[in-house]
Order: sequence, then structure tokens, then C-alpha cells
Amino acid sequence: MRTNEPTPVAAIDSAPATADHRHFDGVDLEKLAQRIPTPFHAYSATAIRQRIGELQSALDGLDATICFAVKANPNLAILQLMANAGVGADIVSIGELRRALHAGIPADRIVFSGVGKSADEIAGALSVGIARFNVESLDELHTLQRLAQARQVIARAAVRINPDVDARTHAKISTGKSENKFGVSIEEARRWFAERKQLSHVQLNGLHVHIGSQILSLEPFRLALQRVAAFWRELVQAGHSITSIDVGGGLGVCYRAGTDRPVAAADYVGVIRTALAGYHGRLLLEPGRYLVAEAGVLLTRVVRIKTGIERQFLVLDAAMNDLLRPSLYDAWHDIVPVSDAARPTTRYDIVGPVCETGDTFARDRELPECASGDLLLIKGTGAYGTSMASTYNSRPLAAEVLLQDGRYAVVRRRQHFEEMIAGEQPARNWETA
Ligand code: LLP
Repeated sequence: MRTNEPTPVAAIDSAPATADHRHFDGVDLEKLAQRIPTPFHAYSATAIRQRIGELQSALDGLDATICFAVKANPNLAILQLMANAGVGADIVSIGELRRALHAGIPADRIVFSGVGKSADEIAGALSVGIARFNVESLDELHTLQRLAQARQVIARAAVRINPDVDARTHAKISTGKSENKFGVSIEEARRWFAERKQLSHVQLNGLHVHIGSQILSLEPFRLALQRVAAFWRELVQAGHSITSIDVGGGLGVCYRAGTDRPVAAADYVGVIRTALAGYHGRLLLEPGRYLVAEAGVLLTRVVRIKTGIERQFLVLDAAMNDLLRPSLYDAWHDIVPVSDAARPTTRYDIVGPVCETGDTFARDRELPECASGDLLLIKGTGAYGTSMASTYNSRPLAAEVLLQDGRYAVVRRRQHFEEMIAGEQPARNWETA
């Protein structure tokens, strides 16, 4: 097994001491932060295209479609970039479907996953003719049949297999174990195929698997795909035609320079090629994090240094509402000052202004000594950053900026207070239900 990391993306280099953190995709971040108030998210378009390119070349020769997991970063400009690169979408809600279509991703490159698709969502997706429903329960299969029949359309469906594989990642983002809510067992899927003649308006001819996220070794992928491949062979033997296999997402990235060693796209695709040898139908992939995580940074300024009773706190203007991952998963994100001025280092607990102890980005982290007003980067925030943001503590959603070759475009301006409270109103018109 090769353990080489993917080529470092765009300008932000992961080598800690000597790296240039001032420039990202050719843009001077100090200058950018003078124009756009912190905190804000910045994404490198070049880095995203580089990742798409790496995966596309690894897939060379295969009939494969990359469907970006919209939940990782649903900004329309990011989705437009995906559309222009020929990438489709993996969606989990009608909102994501509307975003994908709005950004120009064609319906025939959209797949719909999730255990709780509502009848309205299924109907909406049927009406635009998406490529495939990744069906996760018998009840959902029956609902799909009923709604497709009512509309006199044929729904294309894949069964999401729960292969009972440990993805060896954080428990909250592991999805492929039998105790998890996702997918169905191979035994159950076998029954669906045996009875598929009863489905007049659902073409059940696909398999889907997604075992979790931020997976840093090939083994879980190999194991899951071997189980899916064995089932595919069994189905073919039994006379079923399987025209698509969706291998999900999950490829991990480097959050901690020098420690995280992600698998290379070519090695990952190598595992798919080996496991599915002899399969000539369409292959679908649903990467989210791999395409965008390392292409994003969160720019934030030091509000103040607080000497606490036991610890030194570096209080930032970014908080858990802008980036939830450290609070929710104890996730590590590298944090660096943008300025490379030589300074002694010290140890800080790096926190935000939100009123809970969980609003902590890092504990006891060694950093060059900082002062109020210093600009810092929280790295690896391009995936599951803004998409999990909230207005907790009535903090507005941060701006998002796309960078490319020395230029920048604001792709979401910071939320105005009026937008934050839009929809709220005093309790004036009391009614009875
Ligand atoms: N396909 C399905 C069906 C999924 O549920 C997911 C992610 C993906 C694809 C994309 O996975 P990726 O390639 O990004 O690993 N908020 C968490 C991650 C949750 C992932 C949920 N599902 C985090 O910040 O780590």
C-alpha cells in the first residue's frame, strides 16, 4: 500500500515552519482581510479543480461519474465550479436538489441519498428526473413506487447496502456498521431483488454503499467493496442486471500536517478497480470532503488574549457557529498566524466568543505569541464549515470568498441582521389549530 499524500493543494503548504500562509491561490490574505471583515471563509478554486482533476484522472477509462456531496459545501459558486468541471451532485434534501439544479448541474447527474426522504422530496426529485434514488428502507421503496406510479414515471433506484464495516473514523461520522441507521443488510436487499417484479414503476438496478467519512486507510473501503462486489456477482448470477454501482464518499484529508496521511486518489480508485473487476456498468462516486476541505480556510482575528485562572486563552472573532467540527467531533484543525514574523512560541487554548466551553477550536496548542488584531487561519475548513454553520448567539453567517489566481470574488456576503431575523414576528395573530 502506498501511503503518499495527495499533492498539496494550491498555495497553502502544510509544512509548518517555513510555509507561506500569507498567500492563498495567489491572493494576499492580509490585504483581503483589510477589505472583508473577519471572520470569513475563503476557498481556492484552483485547489478544488486540482482535486477534481486528480480524481478524474484516477478514474480514467472507467464509465464513472463524480457526484459531489453537496452537504460538504453547498455554496452556489462551488456547485457552479463542479458543474463546469462535469461533476454531478449527491443530494440529501430538496434544498440541496434546488441548489444543484440552480447551479447548472443536470438532473441526470444527481443522486439522492438519505434515510428520511419525505414524500414531498421524493415527488420533487421524480418531477425533475434525477439519475437515481439511493433507497435506504423498504418503506422508502414502497413510497417511491407509489409516487412514481401516480406520476406515470419510472424511478431509477439503487439499494443502499449496509455492509457492517467499521470505517475506523469518528463514531459520529461512521455510517456502515449494522448498528447505524443507514442502508439495509445484504439479506434484506436480496429479498428486494427477488421481489422486484412487483415494482411496476421502480427500476431497481443499482447498488450503493457509503461507510463513513474522513477515512484515512484503504482497508475499510476494500472490505465494504468486496462485500458489495460479492453481492453484485450473486445478483448477476441470479439473472438481475445491475447498471450502476455507487461507491459513496468518505475519502479522508489532511487536517493535521505531519500526522494525517490520507490515501491517494489513485490508490483508492485502484481498490475500486480491483474489487469491481469485471463490472462494466456505470460507477458513481460521492466525494465531499476530498474535493473541498483542504481548499478552504477560515480567516479570523484575535480579539484578545485572556490570562485565565489556569490557562492562556486566545480569543478569536470566529466561533463554533462558523466552524462546528472541533466542538462536535473534537476535530483537529491546523491553526496558523498569517504573518510569518519570527516570534517565540507559547501555548494557548484557542476559543471563540460564544458562551459555552465547547466553543473551543484547540486546547493547549503551541503557536507563535499573538496579539490582539493578529490575523489567523484555521485550515481545512472548505468542507462541513459553512454547511454546518448557524447563527447561534445571534452571530451572522460569515462571508464566503472564492479565490483564483490572485483574484477574489465574494460568493456570499456576510448575513445582515435583518436577514437573520427575517421570518420572526411578534405573537400578534393568535389562532386555534
Ligand atoms: N455520500 C453520503 C451518502 C454521505 O452521507 C456523505 C457524507 C458523503 C457521500 C460524503 O462524504 P465525504 O466524502 O465528505 O466524507 N459533518 C461531518 C461529516 C459528515 C458526513 C456525512 N455524510 C464532518 O464534519 O466531519
